Amino acid sequence: MKEFKIVNNIEEMGRAGAAVIAAAIREKPDLVLGLATGSSPISLYKELIRMHKEEGLDFSKVRTVNLDEYVGLTADHPQSYRAFMNENLFNHVNIDINNTHLPDGMAENLDEEVAGYDKLVGELGGIEVQVLGIGPNGHIGFNEPSDEFSNHTLVVPLTNETIEANSRFFSGADEVPRKAITLDIKHIMQAKQIVLVATKNKEAILREALQGKITPQVPASVLQMHHAVVVVFSAEE
Ligand code: F6R
Repeated sequence: MKEFKIVNNIEEMGRAGAAVIAAAIREKPDLVLGLATGSSPISLYKELIRMHKEEGLDFSKVRTVNLDEYVGLTADHPQSYRAFMNENLFNHVNIDINNTHLPDGMAENLDEEVAGYDKLVGELGGIEVQVLGIGPNGHIGFNEPSDEFSNHTLVVPLTNETIEANSRFFSGADEVPRKAITLDIKHIMQAKQIVLVATKNKEAILREALQGKITPQVPASVLQMHHAVVVVFSAEE
């Protein structure tokens, strides 16, 4: 690990995370940026949008690869991760939408879809900077607690804990898809740099992940082995 920053609130968390991303984009305008959804990175994306609008941060050549997508939600479903990304980032910056990639949760053949996603990341040359949140059970992407660290894009059944945690975005737990496609731990670990943002409600799991045993039962614990992770922790939820 490289850096652990504690900041006062979510806005500061967003600013600190976005500063890392913006610096990387300025250094390499066609950066391959790995993106996450969920509550945690929203303030980071807000700050990137502000930097685009007020400081001319240029996304025109940036390529993005999202970590995950629910299986069974169409791209225009309000809770699909494609819709989330459009709404929270892509629609507000000058990114070429053809350069933005998410797994297709509606693919007829999911085996082909996951193999295709691995191939795509390979063709892009791998992820250069990866944005991460952390799930209450230590998941990153949708790599749920498991007996081994995943090493290729995969379809995963969501745990009850994740279904419960994500039900806040749906009309109820019954509406939450039961499966998702996720980029694997190996691809995440191959990112040259990682920015993990987490708020106060994740304090216990973050501590376990960063200071406890490295185990696939706490998927984020693998980050202890990455040499360039910046963790930004907001002391407020
Ligand atoms: C979503 C993702 C997940 C979330 C995690 C935390 O793309 O990668 O691992 O980062 O579930 O979600 P929030 O931030 O909503 O608590």
